[in-house]
Amino acid sequence: MRPAVKRLTLTDFRCYTHQRLEADDGPVVLTGPNGAGKTNLLEALSFLVPGRGLRRAKLADVMRRDSGDNAPAPGPSRPWGVAASVMTPRGKVDIGTGYLAGGQGGGKAENSGSRDKRTVKIDGEMVKSQAALADHVSAQWLTPQMDRLFLEGPGSRRRFLDRLVFDSDPAHLGRVNAYDHAMRERMRLLRSSGPGGTGGGADDVWLTTLEDTMAAKGVAVAAARLDRVRRLGEQLAADTGAFPKAAVEAAGTVEGWLGNGPALAAEDRFRDVLRAGRTKDTATGRATVGPHRSDLKVTHLGTGHGAEFCSTGEQKALLVALVLGAAKLKARELGAPPLLLLDEITAHLDDERRNALFDEISDLGAQVWLTGTEPDLFAPLAGRAQFFDVADARVTPRT
Ligand SMILES: Nc1ncnc2c1ncn2[C@@H]1O[C@H](COP(=O)(O)OP(=O)(O)OP(=O)(O)O)[C@@H](O)[C@H]1O
Ligand SMILES: [Mg+2]
Repeated sequence: MRPAVKRLTLTDFRCYTHQRLEADDGPVVLTGPNGAGKTNLLEALSFLVPGRGLRRAKLADVMRRDSGDNAPAPGPSRPWGVAASVMTPRGKVDIGTGYLAGGQGGGKAENSGSRDKRTVKIDGEMVKSQAALADHVSAQWLTPQMDRLFLEGPGSRRRFLDRLVFDSDPAHLGRVNAYDHAMRERMRLLRSSGPGGTGGGADDVWLTTLEDTMAAKGVAVAAARLDRVRRLGEQLAADTGAFPKAAVEAAGTVEGWLGNGPALAAEDRFRDVLRAGRTKDTATGRATVGPHRSDLKVTHLGTGHGAEFCSTGEQKALLVALVLGAAKLKARELGAPPLLLLDEITAHLDDERRNALFDEISDLGAQVWLTGTEPDLFAPLAGRAQFFDVADARVTPRT
């Protein structure tokens, strides 16, 4: 059974008051005019996996606003929710996720204060952490905003890479979070107490503990990225088709150490660098070395150019190649491809590439959600996909 969202219900989610739709397990095409609600629907699906969704939105912003009302609806009276019945390789699972402003419904730590969290229910049971979703559903997405992925700083590429990693290795999320947490705590301590005290005082002991955690988790993060990128690189090299062949590399200091020696040596080295860098890090306000600074480097093998030097269309084709490659890899390794959410994917693709994409999607055996404003562009998928019209925040099956 291929992973697929069979039923989706949105409640007070963005432009939707209440929307329900039933889907088959193959590709789903959503078409409609600008502002109809297509991306909002993909965003709802992206909340079926851990994280902040494909817009990286604040949870309160997702709450439905009345038209003409720029402020979110007041108070906890209008929570938003996404419910889905999902077929997974391990059977059917019912997922409910949402957000209730004002700290109700999920325990206070889940919903209040600066650590804004959404609640998650799996088969009716509230779970402590949204990370549990990764045991059931995985998803990858491409949005028009990601057209700039190769032109921006490394942060968004790192996030893209980490999503590829934890899509196949859910424990990666915990590693990244533990590393980030230790890094923040270390900076907090350096800011409040200064870098002095390497002589075994209380601050030194605590700093050393945090640096130990950073070294252990940081090396694990870098190793997981290297492993995924190596496998993805092999998959991309084996891929034939209309999308460019690409080389991928996880580039960073710790990744470099791991390439030259055993993990334990990299850990020791990272720990030493952190300890020696306390004064510098205090002055700059950030740890100058570590996997929080790594980058995903992509090369178009057809031209030999780094992705950042490619044309807009070439960059889009590279992104599609990466996402399709990762989905195929996952299908090969785990027997189940991720859900793919491809927002306005046909923009920048010529006819040949668009048709090749549709063929790849059909062969992949994944539930791929595609959006676009022009229904005609999706005509080649007739008979191979389910079509919905989206207009004025209503989704209706095309008959
Ligand atoms: N919290 C919210 N409450 C109510 N409406 C919202 C909220 N957030 C966004 N919207 C509205 O939802 C509408 C649909 O947005 P969406 O991004 O889904 O459109 P779309 O169909 O993807 O359009 P496009 O083709 O331009 O990308 C927009 O008019 C937007 O202003
Ligand atoms: Mg859109």
